[in-house]
Amino acid sequence: MTRVVSIISGKGGVGKTTFSTNLAVSLAEKGERVALLDGDLTGANVSRHFGLDASNATINDVVRGDAYITQAIYRHKSGLSVLPADFEDHTLDSNHLKHAILDFLGQKDFVIIDSPPGAGGPVRRALESSNEALIVSKPSYPAVDNAKVVKKLANEVGVDIRGVVLNQVYDDHLELRHDVVAEKMGEEIIGEIPQCDYVREAIAHGKPVLHHKPYSKAVESVDDVTYKLIGREPPKKTPLDKVKKGFLRFLDG
Ligand SMILES: Nc1ncnc2c1ncn2[C@@H]1O[C@H](COP(=O)(O)OP(=O)(O)OP(=O)(O)O)[C@@H](O)[C@H]1O
Ligand SMILES: [Mg+2]
Repeated sequence: MTRVVSIISGKGGVGKTTFSTNLAVSLAEKGERVALLDGDLTGANVSRHFGLDASNATINDVVRGDAYITQAIYRHKSGLSVLPADFEDHTLDSNHLKHAILDFLGQKDFVIIDSPPGAGGPVRRALESSNEALIVSKPSYPAVDNAKVVKKLANEVGVDIRGVVLNQVYDDHLELRHDVVAEKMGEEIIGEIPQCDYVREAIAHGKPVLHHKPYSKAVESVDDVTYKLIGREPPKKTPLDKVKKGFLRFLDG
């Protein structure tokens, strides 16, 4: 059965699109058949994370009947199918997303939906098309307060919340501790991605950080979430592996 997973958040700008793109690539690289859908039709960003420009066909062209879905799918070298939305066209209704998802059902193991922020109609429609959700939040009071609102919506819709991914973690005394967020949210913290300049660099280069800096801690954190989602243990690391990884990280700059 295809697992349709919405990536949601209470607050905007907490890293949903960045996480969605890297999670989708990570899943594909572990052998899963994956489609990534830009579900943020009024703030479409997914294409930028893959260096695509306005000349590529998008979900908007498909809905208008100007392209077949196969023309709008960008095949990433990881095997991932990306269905981007047009960042210059804000006329599409989020109901159209459901049709795009139907095209993938049965063909893919995972459909990842990069949702808009908040708990409004478009997020509800993304959740209604999903059977699972992951909540992205920064470890701060405002982000967690708002994340609780979107959690309520996900519960109302009846999707299975797989946990909270903390992003842009500084690990300092100014942010909420992991266990405090878990208690406030009543959810497992399924991942913690550090604040990392490589992530910003990767976006600027139009590629996932998984390929920009494969040995970075941010990538290791995304991989940890991937293994949890697919229910597999990450490969065991010997002390030598750890030294090698440290050295490769050093060479990565
Ligand atoms: N782990 C990270 N380390 C450093 N910077 C990050 C990290 N994650 C995200 N960012 C930065 O935060 C910005 C916002 O991220 P992103 O666009 O993924 O958020 P979003 O939740 O999708 O936003 P929106 O709600 O507007 O859709 C990125 O452009 C990037 O610069
Ligand atoms: Mg986004």
